[in-house]
Amino acid sequence: MQYNIAVIKGDGIGPEIVTEAMKALEVVGEKFGHTFQFTECYAGGNAIDKYGIPLPQETLDICKASDSVLLGAVGGPKWDSVPSDKRPERALLGLRSGLGLFVNLRPAQMHAALAEACPIKPEIIGDGFDILVCRELTGDVYFGKRGRRESELGETGWDDMNYSVTEVERIGRRGFDMAMKRGKKLVSVDKANVLETSRVWRETMHKLREEYPEVEYQDMYVDNAAMQLVRNPGQFDVIVTGNLFGDILSDEASMITGSIGMLPSASIGESKLGMYEPIHGSAPDIAGKGIANPIATILSCAMMLRYSFGLGEEADCIEAAVEKALNDGHRTADIAKEGEKVLSTSEMGAIICANIRG
Ligand code: NAI
Ligand code: MG
Repeated sequence: MQYNIAVIKGDGIGPEIVTEAMKALEVVGEKFGHTFQFTECYAGGNAIDKYGIPLPQETLDICKASDSVLLGAVGGPKWDSVPSDKRPERALLGLRSGLGLFVNLRPAQMHAALAEACPIKPEIIGDGFDILVCRELTGDVYFGKRGRRESELGETGWDDMNYSVTEVERIGRRGFDMAMKRGKKLVSVDKANVLETSRVWRETMHKLREEYPEVEYQDMYVDNAAMQLVRNPGQFDVIVTGNLFGDILSDEASMITGSIGMLPSASIGESKLGMYEPIHGSAPDIAGKGIANPIATILSCAMMLRYSFGLGEEADCIEAAVEKALNDGHRTADIAKEGEKVLSTSEMGAIICANIRG
């Protein structure tokens, strides 16, 4: 079977890590008899340089016509002085809303071989850390109206926060569905003691809960959730939450694993089309040096195979190949301890490809 993948390498380390991820996909394709057809397009800083805007219509059209999108990362200091509505990061918001991607899945899993990188004491982590944050992606205060006005306190900024029942229902359902596929435990995070949007969120979640009697469900205020993630991370399996709280909690959860270069993400919607990218940024400080860790991007391809193409066995194969590379002691600079041999981006990619071939 042939799958068409739109590839946005992006800025900074983007091209280096995406190149390795494409190789991993090709090798999986050879092994299992699939063809992955890549169409490269531009978004972010490179698009600003080429077209003067962060997200050209042509890119959006190519993405819409594809089976899924693979993205490196966008942005960097070169474009810091660009006005805010034309910044590279605008491309991400445009892609998410343009492709109808309202769910962001961020698994945060600690690899046993890297347990020492975890900033939390081993007696608190216990036998590991493996959670999934399911963040709403196209609503909330990020997509509300905003502005400035004069108030009795002087110049004042304001942002409008909205959640409709319909929006909460569709993300809430994904949260329950993910919980059913994993440990059947769901924590819904809100701030219903203060915010009206959160009261709509909680009421809607409680209605949905009746459809999923098998799922052990819990409400949690966001401030408590932030604390509980550090106090006892093992209590969580799936967390479902809004755009703003999810942005913060997913970064917190990922830090518990200790290495930003390792974690993938998926943005999905109603259709099979999804966008897959590492959680980290374009790492301008190490760009062009060939030392970035490609694992987050390679694991993002595993998520693509699983969620967009329904190729579970192929996804497992990539994840096992990464696990083996780590267990065999292979390290890029970001995850190496002092004195350990350090691999380049392409060396790590090649080892993972060899493991995929088996
Ligand atoms: P960053 O994630 O790019 O880098 C943070 C630190 O982690 C740096 O020291 C970097 O070298 C390191 N790092 C990140 N990925 C790595 C990898 N794969 N291997 C080894 N080390 C890695 O975050 P930062 O510095 O805050 O942002 C840099 C640029 O990226 C900014 O322009 C920002 O707006 C953009 N950005 C883009 C995102 C996206 O495209 N989705 C997400 C986050 C930031
Ligand atoms: Mg973030």
